[in-house]
Amino acid sequence: MDVKDIKAGIKGTIGKEIFFYETVDSTNTVAAILAEKGVEEGTVVVADSQIRGKGRLGRHWASPPGVNIYMSVVLRPEIETRNATLITIMASVACAKALRRVTGLDVTIKWPNDLMVSEKKLGGILTETRLARKRIKYAITGIGVNVNLDLDTLPDVIRELATSVKRETGRCFSRTEVIKGILTEVNKWYNILKGKKYSELIFQWKDLTSTLGRTVEIILGKETLRGFAESVNDEGMLIVRLPSGASRVVHIRA
Ligand code: BTN
Repeated sequence: MDVKDIKAGIKGTIGKEIFFYETVDSTNTVAAILAEKGVEEGTVVVADSQIRGKGRLGRHWASPPGVNIYMSVVLRPEIETRNATLITIMASVACAKALRRVTGLDVTIKWPNDLMVSEKKLGGILTETRLARKRIKYAITGIGVNVNLDLDTLPDVIRELATSVKRETGRCFSRTEVIKGILTEVNKWYNILKGKKYSELIFQWKDLTSTLGRTVEIILGKETLRGFAESVNDEGMLIVRLPSGASRVVHIRA
């Protein structure tokens, strides 16, 4: 990966400062330490591999070296805490648009944070927010994308559910180019979030999602919710129609 090349191609605050590491515990953890130290909004942490890559719901994120993208962006949005879900919505729109443009794949978003191709997971987003005095002090948006990964290197359970850009297109892609594409789109969509144009974000998300209009199963701690995914509300939360006919608003759990 060529950080100088990435920086040179970026116009905007996201990616103006990039820290690159060969190996980290988790880019989200490193970015949070930097955020606590007061780094500027838009600072990005990229790693070639992660030892303890984090997925949602405390899951491990497989992060082998040399093949994929693991990066985290420090954000300091001045939005209400009830709109924090929109940070993940913003990042998933940005990633799906960038991956479509750079790879030509028909990438869709599975609520809330999965980047999908042909019903398999190509990548994911993990946003961790730190609140102070009921405001968002900072948010770390971690992005993982399987780019040149050979799936046979994955454990059996993950292999059946996952895919990579290489697997879907039959060729390798430059991670530098994919990162440039993603950061360019994050700059665009983050400005839309900061400008509080929430309905535009939701509109784009709805256009890119494969979740709505389908029966879904959502793991909520010990409970698994089954129902029909009707819509997302203005705050980015999923509205599910339950078999009883009642509707339920589902929040993202990090
Ligand atoms: C998920 O789908 O469960 C979210 C996966 C998020 C993975 C990325 S890789 C970069 C960043 N650092 C982490 O430890 N996790 C996120």
